[in-house]
Amino acid sequence: MTATIIDGKAYAQGLRGRIANAVADLSGQGVTPGLAVVIVGEDPASQLYVKNKARQTVEVGMGSFEHVLPASATEAELLALVARLNADPAVDGILVQLPLPKQIDAQKVIEAIDPAKDVDGFHPINAGKLMTGVPGLVSCTPLGCLLLIQSVRRDLAGLNAVVVGRSNIVGKPMAQLLIAQSCTVTVAHSRTRDLPRVCREADILVAAVGRPEMVRGDWVKPGAIVIDVGINRVPNPAAGQDKTRVVGDVAYAEAAQIASAITPVPGGVGPMTIACLLRNTLEAACLRRG
Ligand code: GUN
Repeated sequence: MTATIIDGKAYAQGLRGRIANAVADLSGQGVTPGLAVVIVGEDPASQLYVKNKARQTVEVGMGSFEHVLPASATEAELLALVARLNADPAVDGILVQLPLPKQIDAQKVIEAIDPAKDVDGFHPINAGKLMTGVPGLVSCTPLGCLLLIQSVRRDLAGLNAVVVGRSNIVGKPMAQLLIAQSCTVTVAHSRTRDLPRVCREADILVAAVGRPEMVRGDWVKPGAIVIDVGINRVPNPAAGQDKTRVVGDVAYAEAAQIASAITPVPGGVGPMTIACLLRNTLEAACLRRG
């Protein structure tokens, strides 16, 4: 079997188009959703992310507010900025780019964001709502994964889902979303015994561990849906000295022979994260002032 390639780039583009239409409608009623992104320090990967976010925010017609603090910023300074954004009526969504410098307690900052503006879905109120099945803002990457899974299979009830990775950002919310779809969910992680055997039980396999090509083809159940959240930069000597390429957490060429559908890296889950961030910002705007 050769798997269907789940085109996250195309899906995200369609989603952004639908968001742009809804934003145009809202703007006609005098409401322009606004997203504030805060970056502390000069990590090049974070800077690139933030630049892409700002560009796509403007492209769908939303207001984009960028706040750059120096790497030496104190926790108090960042908390003061968050308080200002919480109080700003033009700001519907607040995203503080992670990771933060060592002197700042990220959890404290996350908990300072107004849950109604927490478009990352990281605030314990929103995590709790997801867990208890109450509507709220859901973490963008897992939401994007669910949309991609549902693009190839609508009804997930009764399927075995295995999520490899237990982070607050991806693994745990992903598991909750799949439970809400009536899947039987296993969360595996670095201490799981016989991980290949556990993965082979999965009708839906979500890999979010940050280990290049860790999930091999023979870990995949024939016909499974495979979602690769990994973005890993590895050396690419074939392209020349010091060259790199990006691979996922799944050995793509192997898994694509076994799965029924699979997300590529790049072009799978990655583009969905920002599209879902915009979706959350639109939702936050509608809930606050729609
Ligand atoms: N850093 C990497 N991914 C993310 C994300 O989805 N949200 C935030 N706030 N920081 C990140």
